[in-house]
Amino acid sequence: MTLAEVFAALWSDYVAMTPQAARIQRLFAARGEHVQNDHVAFRTFDCAGLGLAAVAAPFERLGYLERDRYRFADKKLIAKYWQHPDRTLPKIFISELCTAELSPEARAIIANLVTQLPAGFADRADLPWAGRPWRCTRADYEALLAESEYAAWLAAFGFRVNHFTVAVNTLTTFSGLRELGAFLVAEGFTLNNAGGAIKGTPADHLEQSSTRADTVAVDLAGETLLLPSCYYEFAKRYVDSATGEVFHGFVPASADKIFESTDVATTT
Ligand code: NI
Repeated sequence: MTLAEVFAALWSDYVAMTPQAARIQRLFAARGEHVQNDHVAFRTFDCAGLGLAAVAAPFERLGYLERDRYRFADKKLIAKYWQHPDRTLPKIFISELCTAELSPEARAIIANLVTQLPAGFADRADLPWAGRPWRCTRADYEALLAESEYAAWLAAFGFRVNHFTVAVNTLTTFSGLRELGAFLVAEGFTLNNAGGAIKGTPADHLEQSSTRADTVAVDLAGETLLLPSCYYEFAKRYVDSATGEVFHGFVPASADKIFESTDVATTT
């Protein structure tokens, strides 16, 4: 597969889970915008061969190079990002849940999920959008949710994009995230206000905002639940005066709040 084919497959799966992203894309197109993405984000467990390296492998085979590593202690996550030499392509941001830091009960539920993996699953070239490879019950979901929203999301949705992120620097009809946010609210979308609608500052070299996740019907062992799925993110980057170049990394304090875009409880 080419990178163009990979991103087309990722986008197709993502908008099926996140109809708001397709609507926002159409609104941008109507203004004459040609959207470029800043990054695409994925989630995984750190066990059963499913860690960061497994999700990254299909991208590395297509020329992506590993960059920085981040730790999100509160959310029990490690994350890294990958960048392609062609800087018009989105960065790949992958996080993994440190399952050893969870309670024995949560670890047992996750162990039961990963024992169901078909042989060779972690080596699939389409692992980043392979979907949910296990049977997850409502009881599993709710028990994980009580401890880690991230674990519950991954158990229910499996392997797929968690969010695409628009590169706001490449938009020509919005001055920044404030104007973009006002436009989205006027169009009826809801922003994630955890930590304020805009996370980060120009001094951090990165400002981010996001919608609240869409809600979709998910079948959990024969029971249909309405669950928060995926969200759409927006990133504006600034030149780092120390290097004289646009900052391409991430700001953990901001990303920590962005993770909450898929929380079940709505933050106002
Ligand atoms: Ni992101």
